[in-house]
Order: sequence, then structure tokens, then C-alpha cells
Amino acid sequence: MQRKILVTSALPYANGAIHLGHLVEYIQTDIWVRFMKLRGHTCHYVCADDTHGTPVMLRAEKEGITPEALIERVHGEHLRDFTGFLVDFDNYYSTNSEENRQYSYRVYQALRDNGKIASRTISQLYDPVKNMFLPDRFVKGECPKCGAKDQYGDNCEVCGTTYSPTDLKNPYSVVSGAAPVLRDSEHFFFKLGECEAFLRDWTRGSETVGGAERPRLQEGAANKMQEWFEAGLNDWDISRDAPYFGFEIPDAPGKYFYVWLDAPVGYMASHRNLCDRLGLDFDEYWAKDSTAELYHFIGKDILYFHALFWPAMLEYSGFRTPTGINAHGFLTVDGAKMSKSRGTFITAESYLRHLNPEWLRYYFAAKLGSAIEDIDLNLDDFVARVNSDLIGKYVNIASRAAGFITKRFGGQLAGELGDAPVIARLQAAAAPIAEWFEAREYGRALREIMLLTDEVNQFVDANKPWEMAKQEGRDAELQRVCSILINAFRLLTIYLKPVLPRLAADVEAFLQVAPLCWADAQTLLLGHGIAPYQHLMTRIDPKSVEAMVEENKQSLAPPPAPAEAAAQPAYDIPPVAETISIDDFMKIDLRVAKIVEAKAVEGADKLVSLTLDIGNETRHVFAGIKSAYAPEALVGRMTVMVANLAPRKMKFGLSEGMVLAAGGDGGLYILSPDSGAQPGMRVK
Ligand code: MSP
Ligand code: ZN
Repeated sequence: MQRKILVTSALPYANGAIHLGHLVEYIQTDIWVRFMKLRGHTCHYVCADDTHGTPVMLRAEKEGITPEALIERVHGEHLRDFTGFLVDFDNYYSTNSEENRQYSYRVYQALRDNGKIASRTISQLYDPVKNMFLPDRFVKGECPKCGAKDQYGDNCEVCGTTYSPTDLKNPYSVVSGAAPVLRDSEHFFFKLGECEAFLRDWTRGSETVGGAERPRLQEGAANKMQEWFEAGLNDWDISRDAPYFGFEIPDAPGKYFYVWLDAPVGYMASHRNLCDRLGLDFDEYWAKDSTAELYHFIGKDILYFHALFWPAMLEYSGFRTPTGINAHGFLTVDGAKMSKSRGTFITAESYLRHLNPEWLRYYFAAKLGSAIEDIDLNLDDFVARVNSDLIGKYVNIASRAAGFITKRFGGQLAGELGDAPVIARLQAAAAPIAEWFEAREYGRALREIMLLTDEVNQFVDANKPWEMAKQEGRDAELQRVCSILINAFRLLTIYLKPVLPRLAADVEAFLQVAPLCWADAQTLLLGHGIAPYQHLMTRIDPKSVEAMVEENKQSLAPPPAPAEAAAQPAYDIPPVAETISIDDFMKIDLRVAKIVEAKAVEGADKLVSLTLDIGNETRHVFAGIKSAYAPEALVGRMTVMVANLAPRKMKFGLSEGMVLAAGGDGGLYILSPDSGAQPGMRVK
């Protein structure tokens, strides 16, 4: 029976880079989706960047760019990283989209029509300098319990007490440093308490899918829910006041949806966008009576949002609820929390500079089960395990058999395999392995697959093809043994394909077959020509792992302490130039410019080619800033340019002005105006 399945991973925040912790989730989800597709089901995998909220707004301001420019740049970086790890979304969208605006409002409106929205005035900490309400994490002060300094507004990292930001002693705003004041404001609330009966029932329920009864929540999650019910469900504050980067609530000017309201709706928005592009029926997946399956893969830290708020929002706004919430634990590296100083806070980008993504996919899969347990990336074990399993056991099978097939039999596999118990055993394993993948017990699936590779290698040792090859008259036997091995290798490749899609594609090219699917495990490759063997995967060199860790330490080295920096300037300060008149200065026409495009210049290692928007025209400028800036990091930034400089012909083209940068021996820093400045404004 063909199933219709929609799968999501949590939407990563648009204010940071993807790291190996994130990848536990995206790799776990991708494996499941690929497995479902190999089984022949219709399966869509959608995701998006989670773009709204105060952190994105402030980060953009700090970088001197608009939030839109920031989220556009980060979207590119995230997609690049996911693609690098072979995470194959059907759509990777943004919560800052028109679809999301519409569905967020629709959900909100339906909740309101159902009497599930309340409004009341609350008192909150407000930054009188920055003129904004402060989220808990943007207030710091002394812990009311133990007096520790510089603690966040929600809990103390020294003594572990949780409290509300108004309890802090000597509070200050992280944004401006000012002492916050209390201010009243009207907020909207989702009446979660009224949804309790529904949620208690929903939480304990199960759904029949693919012929089996599966609980909606894992055991660990269901227990957590129980605790939350016992603690009591509070109404949920879903609005924020301006200034806020998000969706303004249509009938409440100056009020915005809290980011966590529109973020899960982003799953729908991304899927809607996919449906529109492919001509699919969105309602078939989201209407109350939908028979399609819907799964959310998430980390344990955001269970509350997905197992309480989200099903309740869907239920009371007239949509279907999820078939299952699949939560996973957190990643540790070498037994400890990822750490910037130890170099174990490893970004996706830096991993890919040193190592093969399929090594990590394999290692994570080997450690993943269906329970909400933390998983550890032990770097020594990573090297040992990948080298022994993938190279020593699996790839080795092909390399041991293929040479004989090519050299002795013109690349032709035998027309029949005769009695081959090892093949029968491999084919019989398709069903249990499929069940492990379906149940997200990847570790068990891979253990079974590695047991099978052991059996195949024992078959090689028992038959010794290299000896057969030396003996007269054993050609047919040699061809049969090697053909069994190639067939065994093909079956193992099918089972590993959800985890190792790129390697599987290389194997398909080597075997000269169409893309393999799960059902192909019940067929054999007989009397078929294969290509000469080329090595499929190399071993991990532990030196590359060391280099990666080292790089993550260096790039995040803390800046020198202020005292040190003041005592010794890091560069020579040049003397101030000859005095000029104001008229001389006014001859220079300085303009705010937006960098709309930035590219490396082939053949010039110092130059970046910039396209600048200065209001009513664009300019092309070559800037010698390559040593300090990656071109892609500049796109969307605002800066200042000299707009009336005579154009200059350069080897690479015409340069129509100059971008302002501070610098010398101490580095290079391009200038940015404060936020709000528009392209074309004159700078005086
Ligand atoms: N933006 C929210 C999710 C909104 S979903 C409607 C968010 N973003 S996140 O970038 O912080 O995290 C994205 C996902 O990565 C989450 O499911 C989170 O649990 C997961 N992980 C982030 N760090 C992780 C580890 N160190 N280990 C495992 N998963 C981790 O939360
Ligand atoms: Zn404390």
C-alpha cells in the first residue's frame, strides 16, 4: 500500500550557523525520508529557516544590515550546509514568507473565533534607552537567591534557581546597559488550559500507520507530558510589542505574533509553497479528515512547543494533528557538551572542509535509536568505527571481487548463482532491516547490516577466490563466487542507501544499474556487465579530524582582554594628515551604499567585486578587502562609498568609486551606517 507522508525537521534559527548538534536531527530525518522514498511511498520533506524574533532583529542591527538581508544570507549558508551533508529537502523555505503570514493569521483567527484567545494587560521589563520590551534572555542582573552577578532573567547558572526577570537584583538591559523599568502592555494569550482534556487524550493516543499501531509520542515524551499536566497548563503569551521582527497582527497595530506562533505554522507554509510549485493538493495533507501521515522530527528541548502548543493550535483552528512527534536527544562530543574553547563546537562548514559527510551520517546513524537519548560523538571511536565498518567490512567486498570479474570475465557476472545460502540470508534480512528503519532504530539496522557483511567476508575467506584464480579449470567456480559477492554487495548497498546516498549512487554507476530501491532486494543481478572497479570510499585520516578541531578552536579564539589591548595598540597609528577646509571636505560626495552583490575576482587574490546600490543607480567597485571578508558575507550589508571619484580602469574592469574601510596593519574593517540609513543618503 502506498502511503502519503509529510515529514519536517525543526526550523533552525536564522541567526546562527549550522553545527554538528543540529545535524543529528537533519541527518536522522533525512535517513527516514530517504528510506520511505526507497520503499516507494510518497514522502515530502519540508523545512525552513525560523527567521523572526528579537535575536534576529538585534543581530541584523549589530551587523548594520536589515533583518531581511540577514535572513537571506543565512538562508544561503544553511542550505549550502545541508546540501553538503546530503540532506535532501523537498523544500527549504522561510517563515518570513507570504504563505506563512496568511496561515499564521488564519490559525490565529480560527483560534479567536473558537474563543481560545484572551487578552490582558501585563507588566514587563522595558529598556527606556532602546525603547523596547526585553525578553527574559535580554535582562541580566544578580541572582535573587545566591547573589551571583550577570545572571540571565530566567535562571541562575550558578545555583540553578529559576525566577522571573523582575526578581533580579540590580537588573540591566543586555541591549543598552540601562536599568529596565516596568511597563504595562496588552498581550494576547492562547488559552492552553482549556485544551487540557483534548491534550491528555491526544498525548496518550496512537495511530495505525503502515499496518501497525504506533503511539504518537515516545514513552519518554509521554511521561514528560504527564509531568506538565500535573504542574498545570498556563495560558501562552503569543504577542509581542513593536519593535519586533515578525508578522504584525492585522487587527492589532503595533502587536506582533511571537516567533513561536508563526514558527510551526512555517511547516505548513513551506509545504504549501511546495504544493503550489508541484501542483499537489495541500488539503489532502492538512485538512481535519486527512489520511496522510504527518511527522515532526525535533530535539528534546522543544518538545513543549510541539507536543502541547502545536497539536492544540491545530485542533482548535480546524486542521489535522500530527501522526507522530519524533524527539531525539542532544549531541555531546567526547562525552561533554560541545565547547568553543576545546574546538568541539564544530560547524557544518568546517567539518565539510576536512571530512566526508557520509562518515558522519554513518556514525550518527549507528548511534541513533528511537528513544530520547543524548548521543556522543567520540572522535577516536568515529575514526575507528567508520574505517572498520565501511572500509574494512563493506567496501572491501566489492574490491575483493570486482577485479576478477573485470580481468577474467570481461566484466560479466555469472548467469546463475546456484545454491547460495549467504544470498538467501541477505535477502531475508530486508524485512527486519526495513522494520528497524521504520521504527527509527537505525543503530539496530546498521548492526544487522554489519553482521551480514561479516558473513559475506567469512564466505570470501572460506572460498578463497584468489586461490581459485591460480588453479586451472576453476573459472566457472571463480565467476560464480565473485558474482555472489557482487550480488551481496548490491544487497548491502540497498540497505545502506538511506544512510549513504552518495556512495550508493557511485555503486549504481559501478554496477551499471538504475537507481536501486528497496524492492530490488528481492531480485538478483545475473548475466550482467559491470564497470571496472574504482575505489568507492577512503579511510578517515585521524589527522584531518585533528585539523578540524584545531580550526574550530582558532576561529573562535577569545579576543584579548581589554586591559591588554589598551596597553599595547595592535598596530601603528599613523600621524594625522595636513589640515583641509570644510570646502575641501564637501567636495567628496560620500553616500550610503547597499552591497547587492559581492564576488571573488578570478586572478586577483586581494580583490572583491562589489555591486553597490546607491539609491537611484548601481555602481561596480573593486575593493581590496578579500583578506578580511568572504564575499558572500558582504551581500546585504550597508556601507559608505565615495560616489564622485573619477572611474578607474583596472585589469579586471572599470571601478566606479571606492568603499570606505578602516585599516592598516591592524586589519581591515569596512564602515557601516547605523540601522535605518537608506542607500543613496549623503554622508557628511
Ligand atoms: N527555531 C527553533 C525551532 C522551531 S521549529 C518550529 C529552534 N531552532 S534551533 O536552531 O535552535 O534548533 C533546531 C533543531 O536542532 C532543534 O530541534 C534542536 O533541538 C536541534 N539541536 C540544536 N542543537 C542540538 C544539539 N547540540 N544536539 C542535538 N540537537 C540539537 O529550536
Ligand atoms: Zn544563583
